Amino acid sequence: MPKNQPQFEGIVLVAGATGRTGQWIVRRLQAHGIEHRLFVRSKAKAIEMFGPAYTDRVVTGSIETPLEIEAAVTGCNAVISAIGAYVTEPDAPPPSVIDRDGMKSLATIAKNCGVRKFIQVTSLAVTKPEHPMNKYGGVLTMKLQGENAIRSTYAESGFSHTIIRPGGLQDGEPLQHLLEFGTGDTIIGVVDRSDVAEAAVVSLWHPKAVNRTFELIRGEAACQANLDPFFEQLT
Ligand SMILES: NC(=O)c1ccc[n+]([C@@H]2O[C@H](COP(=O)([O-])OP(=O)(O)OC[C@H]3O[C@@H](n4cnc5c(N)ncnc54)[C@H](OP(=O)(O)O)[C@@H]3O)[C@@H](O)[C@H]2O)c1
Repeated sequence: MPKNQPQFEGIVLVAGATGRTGQWIVRRLQAHGIEHRLFVRSKAKAIEMFGPAYTDRVVTGSIETPLEIEAAVTGCNAVISAIGAYVTEPDAPPPSVIDRDGMKSLATIAKNCGVRKFIQVTSLAVTKPEHPMNKYGGVLTMKLQGENAIRSTYAESGFSHTIIRPGGLQDGEPLQHLLEFGTGDTIIGVVDRSDVAEAAVVSLWHPKAVNRTFELIRGEAACQANLDPFFEQLT
């Protein structure tokens, strides 16, 4: 494909676009020239972040409200979601509502509306019920149950999913580190939100990302032209 052609044809919905990883997903979709829409809770916040050009590319709503999800996913070809519960805020909806039920609704409604590819950012250690993070509403276990719903919903032929489980999230620039991809939830470490976002975007087209769940941490600092080679670690 010529270099000036996007590597993914179609419209990508970014769910949680005003979150810290979500913002990077928007920026990396821009960098790759891929058409996208935003699903956010505050249109004003989205316009302030991304500019007035997004006025007609934002759907406002909550992952708790099926009709709002339906309005957001309709007409999109893929979803990349970086939505997660605010576990340390006592008044925020708990992980059971956002990371389990919300993720399940988003995947189910997206599939029913014909969205072919679903990419979700979750977390390392979701398979470890004894992990200390689980004292916050069982957040890791709720994310695992959300993942399970995505894997089963998107198992049907003609549809595909990718689940990315990052380590502790940092705020550095993209493409500045070697990356380690793992499976089986055995690695630990940190990774930049920008590289998580880039990996999510590359998952739109990379054949090794199809129907895969993988962990992601960073290694040594080293400038990267792109992240494609690291996907080869997924055997
Ligand atoms: N922090 C870490 O070290 C770490 C490590 C591994 C994995 N993770 C996970 O990685 C993901 C991204 O993390 P992050 O730190 O970039 O996230 P973040 O900045 O906390 O953003 C969370 C996003 O979820 C959205 N959200 C929350 N409740 C929602 C609802 N009811 N409806 C729609 N959207 C809702 C927020 O919307 P608003 O913008 O409107 O608030 C925001 O966009 C999260 O799932 C997080 O749990 C975090």
